[in-house]
Amino acid sequence: MAAPTIKLNNGLEMPQVGFGLWKVENNRCAEIVHNAIGAGYRLFDGACDYGNEVEAGQGVARAIQEGLVERKDLFLVSKLWNTFHDADKVEQLCKKQLTDWGIEYFDLFLIHFPISLEYVDPSVRYPPGWFYDGNDEIRSGNATIQETWQAMEKLVEKGLVKGIGISNFQGSLIIDLLRHAKIRPVTLQIEHNPYLVQPGLLKLAEAEGIAVTAYSSFGPQSYVELEWQKAKDTPLLFENATIVEIARKHDKTPAQVLLRWATQRGLAVIPKSSDQGRLLQNLSAVGFDLENGEIEQISALDRNLRFNNPPDVSKLLFQNFCSLLSLMVQPSHCLLLTRYLLGFSQYGHLRVAAELLSDHHCNFRMRAWECLTGRSKPGRPYGNCRLRLTLRSKFLYRPLE
Ligand SMILES: NC(=O)c1ccc[n+]([C@@H]2O[C@H](COP(=O)([O-])OP(=O)(O)OC[C@H]3O[C@@H](n4cnc5c(N)ncnc54)[C@H](OP(=O)(O)O)[C@@H]3O)[C@@H](O)[C@H]2O)c1
Repeated sequence: MAAPTIKLNNGLEMPQVGFGLWKVENNRCAEIVHNAIGAGYRLFDGACDYGNEVEAGQGVARAIQEGLVERKDLFLVSKLWNTFHDADKVEQLCKKQLTDWGIEYFDLFLIHFPISLEYVDPSVRYPPGWFYDGNDEIRSGNATIQETWQAMEKLVEKGLVKGIGISNFQGSLIIDLLRHAKIRPVTLQIEHNPYLVQPGLLKLAEAEGIAVTAYSSFGPQSYVELEWQKAKDTPLLFENATIVEIARKHDKTPAQVLLRWATQRGLAVIPKSSDQGRLLQNLSAVGFDLENGEIEQISALDRNLRFNNPPDVSKLLFQNFCSLLSLMVQPSHCLLLTRYLLGFSQYGHLRVAAELLSDHHCNFRMRAWECLTGRSKPGRPYGNCRLRLTLRSKFLYRPLE
């Protein structure tokens, strides 16, 4: 059964129900994608970060070889990872991803997060993930959204992608992007479910002609399997009395009700399932209608509760905070600032603080060190060893020992 489509602002039709590839196991991905195409899925939502684009492409290739579909029948989506935001890296990455998929163009290419991280060469680690060293070090990048978006626009001009869009952007950032965009984003992909309705953001997207794709339509479900405590502590939407009762009334599953609640309000959905029965169930979730009152009842479950929120990770949060401070800091304020930063006792915080301070001239760096160590001659570690090592290897102009 083919899903209905949504007309995008670039004139293309996007299937309203697609298949999400995050956490689809590598060893089953090709088979699952192939079977999903057989079941009727036409949109696949991938990303560099999911680490399974080669296998997803193999599933697509097999389906095309067997004559199940042609390339033009499919709507293949991928995303630019945070470490490739620099203008000279965007095309390089997009071409690598196309090669991985074994295709010549993406139907849609999104900025995955509005967060620029320092470049990691694919030969070092791919996908690079969040941490520069592959363990726990966050290094922010310098690319602005404008710079990245302009590079994304070039992908359209070169025919590597048919449309470009954004993901995990909030309203003010979208408004800013629209000021300079020559090519408007065709879609906005966001976490969206009855616990996180975001009516204001949806209104803005509608007013600007940007289609919205909901991810994590089942709320905590996707994060429970990651063992995230916040998700485990949240009642499952599948067990919510309102959802269960509406599902019973329509003789549908709670999953289908959650998907229909989104699609009936004009959003696209991209549920992930590694189970053939459930993926079929999800695709057929457009074959019934909820009553307006039921839609309102479900929307009223809103808790403004977000699971996929990288700045929730304290190091990232602080990193953003530092970026803000670095704009305001004058060398003459360094002592004051450094003392203030000392309030953050976790090594990760202090390490990032040092990174901020290093932006300024040598005297400033040394005075920062004096404050951090409590003495003018470096040699005694402050707080713990980790801080000291990081300062030594990256930022100080002379050895600490
Ligand atoms: N742009 C972004 O930053 C971003 C972030 C997150 C996700 N996404 C995209 O959105 C897609 C979907 O989001 P998601 O993966 O977070 O979660 P989701 O689709 O809301 O939930 C997936 C979970 O629900 C289960 N499930 C699927 N269908 C079910 C059904 N009918 N009944 C009961 N359980 C069912 C799956 O288990 P089984 O596999 O065992 O069925 C899995 O545990 C992702 O795959 C990805 O493509 C994008």
